[in-house]
Formats: sequence, C-alpha cells, structure tokens
Amino acid sequence: MRTYLVTGGAGFIGSNFVLYLLERYADIRVINVDMLTYAGNLENLKAVEDDPRYVFAQADICDGAAMRALFEQYKPDCLVNFAAESHVDRSITQPEVFAKTNVIGTVTLLNVARSAWQCGEDDYGDHRFLQVSTDEVYGSLPLDDPKAFFREDTPLAPHSPYSASKAAADLFVLAYGDTYGFPVNITRCSNNYGPFQFPEKLIPLMINNARHHKRLPVYGDGLNVRDWLYVEDHCKAIDMVLAGGVLGEVYNIGGHNEHPNIHIVKTIIKQVSEALDDQAVNETLIEYVVDRKGHDRRYGIAPDKIKADLGWYPETPFAEGIIKTIQWYLDNEEWVARVTSGAYQEYYQSMYGDRSL
Ligand code: NAD
Ligand code: TYD
Repeated sequence: MRTYLVTGGAGFIGSNFVLYLLERYADIRVINVDMLTYAGNLENLKAVEDDPRYVFAQADICDGAAMRALFEQYKPDCLVNFAAESHVDRSITQPEVFAKTNVIGTVTLLNVARSAWQCGEDDYGDHRFLQVSTDEVYGSLPLDDPKAFFREDTPLAPHSPYSASKAAADLFVLAYGDTYGFPVNITRCSNNYGPFQFPEKLIPLMINNARHHKRLPVYGDGLNVRDWLYVEDHCKAIDMVLAGGVLGEVYNIGGHNEHPNIHIVKTIIKQVSEALDDQAVNETLIEYVVDRKGHDRRYGIAPDKIKADLGWYPETPFAEGIIKTIQWYLDNEEWVARVTSGAYQEYYQSMYGDRSL
C-alpha cells in the first residue's frame, strides 16, 4: 500500500488532488497535513472524511518536530507539497509570511524527508518529493510576441513576492537533488480554475460578485493574459510525474489556453446572467481599478516535455470547464459564504473597500 503525504490538502488544488487520488486508487493511504489558514477548508474533503484510507493532521510545515512525528507515524512513500501562501495580492502587503511558509516550510520538509528516507549514501530507496510550483517563477512574457512561451529552461525571473518565494523554494528543491542526490521533481503549472478555489482569486471572485450584482474589479486595462487549466488536469499531471517523472526533472503543465482577464470576466457575466436568468448581471458591473503593483503581463506555458515524455494532455476544454465551474459556485453559495466569513471580510474590505462579497 502506497502512502502519500500531501501538504496543503485542504486548499484549492490540494483538496482536488486528495479527492482525485482516493477516487482513482484503491490500495493507498493519503495523509493530509494542513495548518488550515484562511485558505484551508476541511469542508472540501467531506466526501472522504470517513474513508479509512484518509487521515487529516493539522500542522504547520515550518514545524520540524511536528513534521518528523508525522513521518515516523505514517512512513510516507512520497510527499507532494502544495502547502503555500498563494495569493499575489496578499504577498504584496505581507511578503514575510510568504518567505516563511513557502521557503522555510519547503526547506523544513526537505530536511525532514531527507533524514527520514535516507537508507545509505545518497540513497533514498523508492521515495519521491514533488514540489508543486508555478509558471509565475518565470516572470512575464510580452503581449506582442504570442509565440514566446515558458519552457523548463527559461531562466527564473520572478517579480512578485509570491513568485519570488516559489522560485526560492524551487532552487532549494533542486539543490537537494544536486547536493544530496535527493529524489525530487518540480511541477510548474499555469493558473488553475475549478471547484473549491478560495473566492479571492479572479474566477470565483467574479462569479460571486456578479451573482450579487457587486462591482467586478478589473485591474489595469484588463488585458493581462493568464493561461487557464482545469484543476483536475493539473491533478492528473502531478499523478503522472509521481508515477513516471525522471528524478531531478522539472515539468511545465499548461493547456495553451490563454485569455485576457477582461475576456474571462465577460464570459463569466454572460454565463451567470444566463444561468440565473438575471439581466442585472451585465457588463455595467465591470469597474476598471488601479493596477496591481508589478502586475505580470502574460503567462504562457509550453507543456511539450510532459506531453512527449509522460503522455499527459489536458482533458477538459475551457468552454466546458468554465461552465462547470460557474455552475459549481452558483450551486455552492453556502460554501462561499462560510469560507469568506470572519477575518476574510476584514481583509477584503481593506483591499477593495465597499466591493465586499
Ligand atoms: P490555496 O491557497 O488554496 O491552499 C493552500 C493550502 O496550504 C491551504 O489549505 C492552507 O491552509 C495550507 N497552508 C498554508 N500555509 C501552511 C503551512 N504553513 N503549513 C501547512 N499548511 C499550510 O492554494 P492553491 O491555489 O491550492 O495552490 C496550491 C499550490 O499550488 C501552491 O503551492 C501554489 O503555489 C501552487 N500553484 C497554484 C496555482 C493556482 O492557480 N492556484 C497554479 C500553479 C501552482
Ligand atoms: P489571480 O486569480 O490573483 O491569479 P494570479 O495573479 O496568480 O495570476 O489573478 C488572475 C489575473 O486576474 C491577474 O492578472 C490579476 C487579475 N485580477 C483582477 O483583474 N481582478 C481581481 O479582482 C483579481 C483577484 C485578479
């Protein structure tokens, strides 16, 4: 029986990944280690909470003693590190939290896993450490060169405190591979969308604001481009890297699905309006607001390596995924209300004034 230690498994992608694993494999055990920050919600995992193959442990990945105890108790075969502070806007106002969780947390996990798994000089048996990273570590592409893409050998050039902390973590992961022969992989995925994404990110925020006739804050000119991938396709890619990725390698993940933000917002307005049969959900809700500091212009991933080497391909076309996603948020208004109650409201007011959820 294979034991997966998944950190950050109560967040957006982590919870989708835990559900994906437990649905796909019978003979496994999944240990979900999550500190439950504002972004972590155990409600995402209701479907598996009584599953004997699933264990939840509330702990901070920066806490070495707690991580060691979990390794001793569960003896994981592999570790998938999703745990992170993940919102660029927050990283601009609180960079030190990102340095701690994303860098110190990753190094703590590397250290603990290395001592738990070492069974000889540079020998770690059949174990694997997978770091879930992001295309944002590569920086930004220009809008006037649509054929330029991020490849695995594109130099790291992060701009935001978030992407700088993810790039720093990536360098530590690679250094552990080079220095200690530690069995690592890094995946760098483009923007994800789908169920359970915390509603401070573009797509769920716009869906929820639109349904309540609240203003839709579009940063700058709305022409920044993101490359959107349905979350389940990201989960599938991580699973394939765990199964067949060459140790020490980085894999880019993306579906060549680039859109300017304003296109995403207008698509959401149209779909929400139709789904709720509500004419008041219309483009007059759009409000262009002051741009994000250091706003990356365009992200675009070349996923050629993971396609050629591991046979991965995205299964959910955007036209289908975005409708499923919009419907999920419309059907799960109570989830949205619960996860955004309390401290989140204060944060949102301080960021966006009266554009509260
Ligand atoms: P998220 O913010 O939704 O979830 C992060 C989870 O980590 C939460 O459950 C939170 O409680 C937990 N966490 C935070 N600090 C912790 C700590 N110190 N100890 C233990 N748990 C902690 O993030 P997400 O969008 O699901 O992203 C998951 C990972 O994927 C991140 O590493 C992110 O950089 C990466 N990523 C995200 C995207 C995207 O579009 N969302 C794209 C590419 C890569
Ligand atoms: P976001 O979901 O925060 O992801 P990331 O910054 O990691 O790509 O933002 C996606 C894009 O949407 C980004 O270009 C910023 C923009 N954006 C807005 O225009 N308005 C908003 O309210 C938010 C949250 C994001």
